[in-house]
Amino acid sequence: MAANELIMHIVPLQRNTEIVTLLKSCGLSVEDLHENSRTQFFGLSSSSGLAGVIGVEHYGTYGLIRSLAVHVTFRSEGIGRMLVKHAEQWAKKQGMTELFLLTTTASGFFSRLGYTDSSRSDAPEAIQRTPQFSSLCPSSSQFMHKLISA
Ligand SMILES: CC(C)(COP(=O)(O)OP(=O)(O)OC[C@H]1O[C@@H](n2cnc3c(N)ncnc32)[C@H](O)[C@@H]1OP(=O)(O)O)[C@@H](O)C(=O)NCCC(=O)NCCS
Repeated sequence: MAANELIMHIVPLQRNTEIVTLLKSCGLSVEDLHENSRTQFFGLSSSSGLAGVIGVEHYGTYGLIRSLAVHVTFRSEGIGRMLVKHAEQWAKKQGMTELFLLTTTASGFFSRLGYTDSSRSDAPEAIQRTPQFSSLCPSSSQFMHKLISA
C-alpha cells in the first residue's frame, strides 16, 4: 500500500494509545478515557496509522458524541462526515434516539450534519452527569443535539 493510503473501512475500536495520541494532537480531552470508559470508538486507518476516530457514549435512548478527530493529513476529504454518519447509524441500532455533543471548535461542521444548538439546562440528566458535560468541556462550549429516530 502506498504511503498514507487510506483504508476506507470504519471499524469498532477499543481505547488504545493511538487513539489517545490522535485526540491529544487535536487538542481534545482524554482525561476521562480510562480503561473501562463506556466510550465505543470507531476509526479508520491509513498505512501510517490511525487517520480518524469518533466516540459514542451510550445512555439508554441518549448518546453523547465525543472525540471526533481526523489527522491533519486527511482533513477535508469527507472522513469527519463519514465517521459521524457511521456513529449515528450505530447509535440507532443500539436504540438511541437523540445524540448530544459539546464543541468549541466544530459547531459549523456539526450544524451542516443536522445538529442544532441546545440549552445546557435542557440536557437529560444522564448527559449532564458525563465528565465531558460537567467538567471537561468549558462552559463556553456549544451544546448541540440531533434526533436520529426518524
Ligand atoms: C472537525 C474535523 C473532525 C472535521 O474532519 P474532516 O475530515 O476535515 O471533515 P470533512 O472532510 O468531513 O468536512 C466536511 C466539511 O466540513 C468543513 N469543516 C471541517 N472542519 C470544520 C470546522 N471545524 N468548522 C466548520 N466547518 C468545518 C469542511 O470544510 C468540509 O466542508 P466542504 O464539504 O465544503 O469542503 C477535523 O477538522 C478535526 O479533527 N478537527 C480537530 C478536532 C475537532 O475539533 N474535533 C471536533 C470536536 S467536537
